[in-house]
Amino acid sequence: MTSRLTIEDVEISGRRALVRVDYNVPFQEGTSIISDDTRIKASIPTLRHLIDKGCSLVLCSHLGRPKGKRDPQLSLKPIAKRLSKILEQEVQFVEDCVSESAAAAASKLGKGEILLLENLRFHRGEEENNLAFAKQLSELAEVYINDAFGAAHRAHASILGITKFLPSYAGLLLDKEVNYLENALSHPKLPFTAILGGAKVSDKIKVMDRIAKIADNICIGGGMAATFLAASNKEIGNSSIEADFISQAQTLLNENDPTNAKLILPIDVVVVKTFQKDSDFLAKSAGDLDYDDIIVDIGPTTADYYSSIIQKSNTILWNGPMGVYEWEKASAGTHSVAKALANGNMLSIIGGGSTVDAVNFFGLQAQMTHISTGGGASLELLEGRELPGVVSLREKTKG
Ligand code: 3PG
Repeated sequence: MTSRLTIEDVEISGRRALVRVDYNVPFQEGTSIISDDTRIKASIPTLRHLIDKGCSLVLCSHLGRPKGKRDPQLSLKPIAKRLSKILEQEVQFVEDCVSESAAAAASKLGKGEILLLENLRFHRGEEENNLAFAKQLSELAEVYINDAFGAAHRAHASILGITKFLPSYAGLLLDKEVNYLENALSHPKLPFTAILGGAKVSDKIKVMDRIAKIADNICIGGGMAATFLAASNKEIGNSSIEADFISQAQTLLNENDPTNAKLILPIDVVVVKTFQKDSDFLAKSAGDLDYDDIIVDIGPTTADYYSSIIQKSNTILWNGPMGVYEWEKASAGTHSVAKALANGNMLSIIGGGSTVDAVNFFGLQAQMTHISTGGGASLELLEGRELPGVVSLREKTKG
C-alpha cells in the first residue's frame, strides 16, 4: 500500500489552491435551509491548514444530480453562507465554475481568502471527465487538493481529469478517511466484528465477501436480514427479499472455511402487518413468523446478543441500520447497537449515509472513533476497489 502526499507533506505556502470538497449536503425539502452540515464542518481542518499557510482558496463541489443543466434549486450559494458562518470570515461566491468571472474572482484572491464556485455538475463536462473542462478548472489555481472523500469513487473532471493539469495532493479529511477504512481492513485489532444492515443485500454483498476473510463476526440486521433468513429456510412472511441473492447468501452461510467470519443472523425480529409507523409492533422469534408479517427491526434478544459481541470486540465496522430506526417502535435494534458502540472502548468505524444519520439521530456521534462522510465511496473502498480520487493523487514514495 502506498500513501498519498497530503497538504501537510508539501510546501504550499502562499499558493492558490483549487480544493475539491464534497458539499453535497441535504436541504430541508423545498427550501435553501441546510439540514445537515456535517460534510461542510468535516472540511474545516483542511481549509484552516491552508488559510494558516497563507494560501488563497478556490473551493469547488457538486450538489445533487443536475445532469449538466443549471438548476437554481441545486445552487451552492447557501453553502457559501453557511461556510462563512462556520469560519467566521467572508466566503465569496461566483455563479459559474468555469467562466471569465470565475477566473477574475480567483485571480483577485488575497492570502487566506476564499471563493466558492457554483455547482460543478451544471456542466456536462464534470461527470464526463472532459479534459477541456478539467483544464479550464485547473487554470483557476496553482495546486489541486482533493478533500472530497464522499465523491472519490467518481471518475469526474474535478476528481480525476484535473490531476493531469495540477500537482495534486490529499486534503486532511480524504487522507483520514482512507487511512481509517484501509487500516481497519489491513491491520484490525482483533476481535473484529462487522455489523451490516440496511435495505439491500446487493449493496453489501461484495463488502461481505471481503470482510468474511478478515473479520471474526458479521452480525446481520436491517431489511437485508430477511434475504439471509430466507436463505436459511426461515419463514420471512411478507418481508421483501432479493431473490437473486439467495444463493450467494447461502454460500456465505454454508461457508465451512474455518478462517471465515462467523455469520450471525437475528434470533428474533420485530414485525408489523402493514408497513406504517402506527402499526402494531410485535417481537417474534425468527422462524416463527406468519405469512403476513413484515420484519422492521431486529428483536430485543438479538439486540442484546449483538451488543454483547460488540462489547467483546476491539474493532467494529458498522454499515447499515438494524431496522426502520426513524420509527420509534422499530428503532430499538439500531439504538442498542449505537449505544453498545458509544459505551465501548473499541475502535468504531461508521460508514454509509443512513448509518451516520442514525448515529446522529440518537445523538451518539461524539462517542464514535470515526464517522465516514462517504456513502458509496466508503463501500467501494471496503470492497477493495481503487478510488479514482485517491489513486490519482501524488504518492509519498514518488513525491
Ligand atoms: C454522495 O453523497 O455519496 C457523494 O456526494 C456522491 O454523490 P453522487 O452519488 O451523486 O455522485
